[in-house]
Amino acid sequence: MHPVETPSSEEPGAHAPPASSRMPRSSLRSAPVSRVLERLHASARKDAYRFLRLVPAFVLGTLRGLKFQEIVTVEAARTIYMPISREQGELLYLVARSIRARTLVEFGTSFGISTAYLAAAARDEGGRVVSTELEPGKHAAARANLAEAGLLASCDLRLGDAMETLREGPRDIDLVFLDGWKDLYLPVLKMLQPRLSVGAVVLADNIFTFEKALRPFVDHVRSGENGFVSATIPLGAGLEYAVYTGVASRDGETQSPPSSFGSSLSSSPA
Ligand SMILES: C[S@@+](CC[C@H](N)C(=O)[O-])C[C@H]1O[C@@H](n2cnc3c(N)ncnc32)[C@H](O)[C@@H]1O
Repeated sequence: MHPVETPSSEEPGAHAPPASSRMPRSSLRSAPVSRVLERLHASARKDAYRFLRLVPAFVLGTLRGLKFQEIVTVEAARTIYMPISREQGELLYLVARSIRARTLVEFGTSFGISTAYLAAAARDEGGRVVSTELEPGKHAAARANLAEAGLLASCDLRLGDAMETLREGPRDIDLVFLDGWKDLYLPVLKMLQPRLSVGAVVLADNIFTFEKALRPFVDHVRSGENGFVSATIPLGAGLEYAVYTGVASRDGETQSPPSSFGSSLSSSPA
């Protein structure tokens, strides 16, 4: 995606990495980042108890046909982490590193757990992550957490509704992570789509948890008509992994994607 300078084969040491690159180079493994992530994941584990208090409201709200954000109380929206798992975070970091992503955009910062994984990758690639959060308290806490992790310089943290805060922003986006309220995944993606690099990766959480609410988004990235190829990875609550090819399939021909990455592996002919 971005050109990488490599030494010519005539140069001495052309086949060995330079001494400095033999050092482990992962901000994710640095002491401040590991310490902050350890603390945040531990604190987020208490979400389970906070969620339990909301169960009656969820059941009643769902029966009344309300959306998640109409059910979730203001107090819950302000205090619950609802973070990605460590495994998902590691995957975000690795995907970002493997495509050498320098321009990353996140919808749904919360306390900054996923942002830390993205920012670590951005720092290692010399780039930046733009992340947005609706709740002022969470935005402020994320800023403090990312500063403590030493990652703030690799972040552009925005406060407010993603549909406003991401309206203006970077072009040539290499990676998008969608993790805010579910009815906005598709509007946010459509807003960002003209600014995606070809080959950009769009990752989106909670595909299994909010199957119905996310159906329009999943249809958009899977139909083959909107310039994406996509599958769901059965990691955590289901992670959609879409790649922007920039071209719709010919004659509007649609893909018939597997319902998930796992099932595609198990149903593929040998
Ligand atoms: C599931 S949490 C994000 C968790 C975070 N990605 C992590 O892994 O730590 C969703 C967050 O999105 C925020 N959010 C929801 N709708 C939003 C919007 N329209 N604009 C910005 N942030 C929003 C919520 O306040 C909430 O903190």
